[in-house]
Amino acid sequence: MCGIVGYIGGRRATEICLAGLRRLEYRGYDSAGVAVMSKGKLVVRKKVGKLQVLADSLEAEPIEGAPGIGHTRWATHGKPSDANSHPHLACGDKIALVHNGIIENYAELKEQLMARGCVFRSETDTEVIAHLVGKYYEGDLLAAVIRAAKDCEGAYALAVICEDEPDVMIAARLKSPLVVGLGEGENFIASDMLAVRPETDQVYVLDNDEFAKVTRDRVELFGPEGQRIEKEPYVIPWDAAAAGKMGHEKFMHKEIHEQPGCIRDTLAGRVAAGMEEISLEGLTMSEDEIKQVQRVLFTACGTAYHAGMYGRFVMERLAGIPSEVDLASELRARDPVILDNTLAIIVSQSGETADSLEGLLELREKGAKIGSIVNVVDSAIARESHWTVYTKAGPEIGVASTKAYTLQCLVALMLAVRFAEVRGSKPKAELEELREGIARLPAAVEATLENEQQIVELAEKYQQYDDCLFLGRGVSFGSAMEGALKLKEISYVHAEGYAAGEMKHGPIALIAPECYTVAIAVRGEVYEKMLGNIQEVKARDGKVIAVAFEDDEDIKQHVDDVIPIPRVPELIAPIPVQVPLQLFAYHVAKFRGEDIDQPRNLAKTVTVE
Ligand code: M6R
Repeated sequence: MCGIVGYIGGRRATEICLAGLRRLEYRGYDSAGVAVMSKGKLVVRKKVGKLQVLADSLEAEPIEGAPGIGHTRWATHGKPSDANSHPHLACGDKIALVHNGIIENYAELKEQLMARGCVFRSETDTEVIAHLVGKYYEGDLLAAVIRAAKDCEGAYALAVICEDEPDVMIAARLKSPLVVGLGEGENFIASDMLAVRPETDQVYVLDNDEFAKVTRDRVELFGPEGQRIEKEPYVIPWDAAAAGKMGHEKFMHKEIHEQPGCIRDTLAGRVAAGMEEISLEGLTMSEDEIKQVQRVLFTACGTAYHAGMYGRFVMERLAGIPSEVDLASELRARDPVILDNTLAIIVSQSGETADSLEGLLELREKGAKIGSIVNVVDSAIARESHWTVYTKAGPEIGVASTKAYTLQCLVALMLAVRFAEVRGSKPKAELEELREGIARLPAAVEATLENEQQIVELAEKYQQYDDCLFLGRGVSFGSAMEGALKLKEISYVHAEGYAAGEMKHGPIALIAPECYTVAIAVRGEVYEKMLGNIQEVKARDGKVIAVAFEDDEDIKQHVDDVIPIPRVPELIAPIPVQVPLQLFAYHVAKFRGEDIDQPRNLAKTVTVE
């Protein structure tokens, strides 16, 4: 978590760093800081609080010069404070360093460094690396960073500058993402392509144990022993506008509204009406390999886990393969047994989530075939997988995941249909109906978005409630979990997602006039049972909002409010169902005056375990 930016060139580094950090603020917003080579001296400014506090300070008292490095922090070791903010200094304040990641052996290293006289000014693990670089510095910053990295266990992405080498920035990566952006007479370092995209579309994506020596005119890449390495720059496939708000008040709102277009992009060339088979370019398993799969295990965190719940359901239902879903952190806690012919599918927007990545490595080590559903191209999870099918969401910046979720569900569904085609587990006509339903999804999602005004009115009606239950059954269980997560993470309303059948085993005790229920009640296999659960809530004076098909007149007599969605095959419904629930969470949070794009305590990409 934490975002890093570095700039070297003819412009004022603080301006480039601040602009980059604004685009990385989704990674953390507890504090921010910069270090700049200004008139031959290293000048540092760091402030607790959101980036704007630092921006105001730099406007009041600018710092000239370059190179410069900047950082936005999500606190792990040491509470948010000016002292714990990055950059950290060492070597008589000649060396400045910013870090994303965690140094697991920092306590031991700190003791050794203190014994040799290093004075620590923060509680962070990061300051240890700064002092290590200082310890090994003998006039060659690259060599010192490579040497210091050897002592560190854990994860890091680093940007380092030194007063004695004013024309150089060093970048280093182990497990935390880092790119080097290539300009004309200027170059950039950043945690994410988003930060550099307005300046360039050419980046080197650093791999683990890679280092970069960055000057105005040159970028040289090195391996862990200091050996030169060559690689081709990656060309960022989206334009800078995609990373802006494009007239929307919040990124989350923009991203919710982008869904029809993103679904079209994700379907392009893969599914269309009349196509006889789904074609998934990233799925590199042969038909024989697909036939041999005996177990599918979806693994992910947070919202992506809820997409995995849907994936588990459709894979089992359509392809007839025993399927499971696991939270990546819990999977690892359990030392799972992996049988032959297990396919693990890791789901992740960022492709960098530490728990998911570590889960992947463990599953691969135990012999599972690894597939992944990922949004960020060439991210760690994609690179460690045997195959990846990408969601084509473009950049997702709002901390609350929206478009990535619907696309993860969509890709999971396409995989399940493809597996069913190959394994012959469902009649051709049923698969054809599903493919046609999938091809109609952009229009279905567009129709739900047109209903936003009704959602605003509902959000206004329910904004004051502090407790809420989301109920789903069968294919909609994950939708209920995701609906609750969305509401709680941005509005701080206590919301629980439950399997409706579990109500009578405990949660029904919560039903009271001051707790409302959102019931996913699309007509299908479990509709009647869901109506029964709705009656149980109503009988206890609970208010109910139902998400139902628009032609379902009957539902209106059972509930207080209905959110209509267009009729689609039941198995596909979770995709359009989620869109109004995202809008509902958004507008409740807006009515409650919360910071929607940067909810408290959260960061977009969780690169710590
Ligand atoms: O980047 P990933 O999809 O791996 O992220 C997983 C979760 O951290 C993420 O979905 C998180 O739960 C979001 N805040 C949900 O909105």
